[in-house]
Amino acid sequence: MSINPAFMRRLIVIFALATLVLTALAAPAQTVQLSVDTSKTGAKIDRNIFGQFAEHLGHGVYEGIWVGPDSKIPNTRGIRNDVVAALKAIKVPNVRWPGGCFADGYHWRDGIGSADKRVVRLNPDWGGVIEPNTFGTHEFMDFIDQIGSQAYVSVNVGSGTPHEAADWLEYMTAAQPTTLQKERAANGHPAPYKVSFLGVGNESWDCGGNMSPDYYLSHYKDYSHFVRNYNPAQEHGKDQMLQFAVGPGGDGQRWEEWTDTVMKGYQHHSWSWDLNGLSLHNYTVGDWVNKFPSTGFGETEYAKVLKITLEMDGLINRHSAIMDKYDPEKKIALVVDEWGGWYAPLPGSNPGFLVQQNSLRDAVLAALNLNIFARHADRVRGANIAQMINVLQAMILTDKEKMVLTPTYYVFKMYVPFQDATFVPVTFDAGKYVHGDVTLPRVDAIAAKDTNGKLWLAITNLDPNQSVDIDASLAGITAKSASGQILTAPKVDSINTFDAGNTVVPKAITAKVQGGKVTLNLAPKSVTVVSVEQ
Ligand code: AHR
Repeated sequence: MSINPAFMRRLIVIFALATLVLTALAAPAQTVQLSVDTSKTGAKIDRNIFGQFAEHLGHGVYEGIWVGPDSKIPNTRGIRNDVVAALKAIKVPNVRWPGGCFADGYHWRDGIGSADKRVVRLNPDWGGVIEPNTFGTHEFMDFIDQIGSQAYVSVNVGSGTPHEAADWLEYMTAAQPTTLQKERAANGHPAPYKVSFLGVGNESWDCGGNMSPDYYLSHYKDYSHFVRNYNPAQEHGKDQMLQFAVGPGGDGQRWEEWTDTVMKGYQHHSWSWDLNGLSLHNYTVGDWVNKFPSTGFGETEYAKVLKITLEMDGLINRHSAIMDKYDPEKKIALVVDEWGGWYAPLPGSNPGFLVQQNSLRDAVLAALNLNIFARHADRVRGANIAQMINVLQAMILTDKEKMVLTPTYYVFKMYVPFQDATFVPVTFDAGKYVHGDVTLPRVDAIAAKDTNGKLWLAITNLDPNQSVDIDASLAGITAKSASGQILTAPKVDSINTFDAGNTVVPKAITAKVQGGKVTLNLAPKSVTVVSVEQ
C-alpha cells in the first residue's frame, strides 16, 4: 500500500499539534513559592527609569506628536490631544529629545521663531526626508508641559560646539534680561524653561562623531563646564539639572574601556565640571542584518528574543562593577537611555523610519527590562525606552487621525505604582521554561512599597504554554486582599491594530488570600501587577 507523502506530512503535523494541546491541558499549573519580607527594603526605584525617547525619526515626532495647529486632528497648539491624554495616563517622568543620532546634527536655532521662517533641512540619519523644524524648542517644551513630564535635552557634540549648546541652554533657562532671554520672550515664553537632564552628545563612539573615549572625555569636560542652566528654580537642591555623559553601547572590551575612561576621568574631576550619569544603550536585536520580525512569529522567536533581553542584567552588572571602582557610593547613575526591541522594518515601510509592530512579546520584554532596572535601583536611576511613538518599541502607534495603544504601553501603565517606590527584595525559585535550545526562567518578579507604603508585586510568567500558581508569603504585613491587572493575549505575537485595538489589554485579577498568603494563578505569557491591602 502506498501512502501519499503530503497526507503523511499533514498527519504528522496534526499529531504534533494534538500532543502539544493535550500536554498543555493535562499539565497541572506549576507552583512557585515567593517570599517577600517587607521589613527589608532596598533602594528607591527612580521614576525616571520609566522615561521615554522621542527622536526626529520617521513619524515619531511629526504625525506622532506634532500635527500642526491647522490639522483636522484635534490638537492643542499643534500637539495631538489623543496622544497627550494617553501619555498623561502613564505619568511619563521625562522625555529625551531631539535624538538619538539626530541630536548630533541638530542646530537649535533652526527650530525657533515664526513657523514660516524655520530652517528646512534634510534628516540624513533617518531616511533623508525633509526636516521642517516646525517642532522645535518651544513646541517640545509645550509638549512636555501638556503631558506633565520633564525635559531631557541632548545637545549636539558631533557637529556642534560648546558655544552653541551654551547659547541653547541660556536661551531656554535664563531668567534675567539677556539677549537670549529676550529672544525667547519675544518668541512667546518669557518665563525660563526647566531642563532637568542634559545629555552631552549621543553615541559619540559612532553616529555622534566616532570619537575615542579620551577624545570624548575632553569634549565632555568643556560641555559640562560651559553649558549652564540659569533657571533660578534649578540652581540648587533637587531640581538641579543633571548632566549625563555618553556611555557604552554594549558588552566587551571596547565598551568596558569606554566606561573605564569616563569614570576614571570623573575620579579626577575638579570644581569646574561634573558628571551625574553615564548613559548605556542596549537594544534587544540579535542579528543586526537579519532582524527578528515584529509580527507573524512563533514560540522560537519569542523565546530567543526574551533570552537576548535578559542579557541586560549582565551588561548592567559589568558596567556597574567598573563604575563601582571609581564611584563606590554610586553617586553617578547608570542611565539606560535607549533600550527596547529593535526588529525588521514592517514590509512596505521606509526602512529609515524604523517602523515595527508591538506584540505581547514586547509587553513581556518590557516587564523583564523594568524588573532588571528595579533590581539595580541603586545604580540605574534613569532609562528611556526607544521610542515613544511610531518608532521601534513604541507606546503608541498613529495613522493620520487613528491611534492605538500597544502592549508595551499597558505595561508602563500597570507599572506606574513602581515610580519612586521602594524596592522590596523577593526570593523565589524561578523554575525553567525550555524551548529548543533556549532555557529561560519560568517566572520573574519584583516587589516594592509605593510612596504611601502600599505593597505592589509585579510578576511575569514567561512560559507561553503553562500557567503558574504563585504562592506568596509576605512577612511583615498581614494581607487581607490583593488585586490588580493581568496582561496576556491568545498568542505570543498578538498585537493591537487600528481596527482591533483591544486584543492585548489588561484585565482585572484578584488573588486568593488565606492566612496572610497570597495565591494567584497567572496565565501563560502574561504580566501581572497586584497591590496588597492589609
Ligand atoms: O533609536 C534609534 C537610534 O539608535 C538612535 O538614534 C541612536 O542613538 C541609536 O543607535
